Amino acid sequence: MSELQSPGPIRRVALLTLGCKLNQAESETIARDLTAAGCQVMDAPAAADAVVINTCAVTHIAGRKSRHLVRLARRLSPQARIVVTGCYAESDGALLRRIGADLVLGNDGKPALVGNLLGNGVQHPRPLDNSPSSDAAMACRLRTRSFVKIQEGCNEVCAFCIVPRTRGRERSVAMAEVLSAVREREADGVQEVVLTGTQLGAYGRDNGEEGGLAELVECLLAQTSLPRLRLSSLQPADITPGLLRLWEDSRLCRHFHIALQSGSDAVLARMRRRYTAAQFRQAVAAIREALPDAAITTDVLVGFPGETEAEFEETYRFCREVEFAALHVFPYSRRPGTLAARMPEQVPEAVKRARVQRMLGLAQQLHDRFLRRFEGEVISVLWERSREDKNGAAPVWEGLTDNYIRVFTAGVEPLDNRLLPVRLSGRRDGGFWGELVS
Ligand code: F3S
Repeated sequence: MSELQSPGPIRRVALLTLGCKLNQAESETIARDLTAAGCQVMDAPAAADAVVINTCAVTHIAGRKSRHLVRLARRLSPQARIVVTGCYAESDGALLRRIGADLVLGNDGKPALVGNLLGNGVQHPRPLDNSPSSDAAMACRLRTRSFVKIQEGCNEVCAFCIVPRTRGRERSVAMAEVLSAVREREADGVQEVVLTGTQLGAYGRDNGEEGGLAELVECLLAQTSLPRLRLSSLQPADITPGLLRLWEDSRLCRHFHIALQSGSDAVLARMRRRYTAAQFRQAVAAIREALPDAAITTDVLVGFPGETEAEFEETYRFCREVEFAALHVFPYSRRPGTLAARMPEQVPEAVKRARVQRMLGLAQQLHDRFLRRFEGEVISVLWERSREDKNGAAPVWEGLTDNYIRVFTAGVEPLDNRLLPVRLSGRRDGGFWGELVS
């Protein structure tokens, strides 16, 4: 890791992000700092003075994509300063420098990244909410849904996971700091804040915020009038009556992402996950009892070392029984330095591929079944962005319900950053076509 050499004027900065919502939250902070320093933040590297790449290492594909972005940035903007950060920068910094990075910063280097990049040459300070220089898409994203980091790191060393190595031990952001970040977003006109972290349920364990996640959420609901608050992901053990009670406030989004990984107790034990299929089932039942229309989404890791056909079938049946609203399916990827990388009985790639395909087929059916329940209903949508309709008609707007249903509608009137009731009329692109209800 090293300092950038003699930085010249930097006005246009491309910011490229891979990985999870935690990475997105950190990229958002970088974007806000850059914008406040007067830089134009873009999401494409061509013609940029600098390119910041926030990488991920969760799978070997994420690592490959990280390297690809560095090479692409170098090719499209040969003169640009290239700064690489994030989890892949933690694990393979020397390689990143060889293929074109000027500066490599680990996750802990993110708070100082903008200072490192701009040096003393702070450009033309300008407030974020009045930022004509930022790309429209980027500016809109900064205003509509905002990712706020409340915690990072993980003390639970799952056998397959690289994250404890790239993110370290659990560290929580002080409650007062989270509150101030959320208030800042509110003042900027943000309509939805997504609380992110590696282990949201671990919030407060390390810094004496004894009420933990529930107290933090309660405080944010009580002390802001933000229209929507979403939790990015939870573990089954986090689903307690005390936490669920908070959803009596309808500003909390009815969306629970709980990573299952496997529905087989034997595989869960080998993975070193800290729950059983039965405990997962109980957590889902508690959510359904309190919030029948909640979207419960999950991650499934297919082809963990030693996963037999019967164990895979258990996972398949479990997912079908639980009726997740969405399944994110990942083939197991050997991560150097993890326990599972040294396990015998690695599952052949062809077997993993076949199991992924089967699971994706189920994912489609389950998503379809979840959507069908809402056909014809009126529900609020937060509109995020528009794109031209394929036929050249009025722009098509796209947004999300609180229970994570994607909705589209056509209209010439700008809808971005508005929360409006919509009747879900017909299906479109994995979501619904909606009619605005006056
Ligand atoms: Fe990737 Fe690091 Fe997130 S490995 S998934 S960016 S914590």
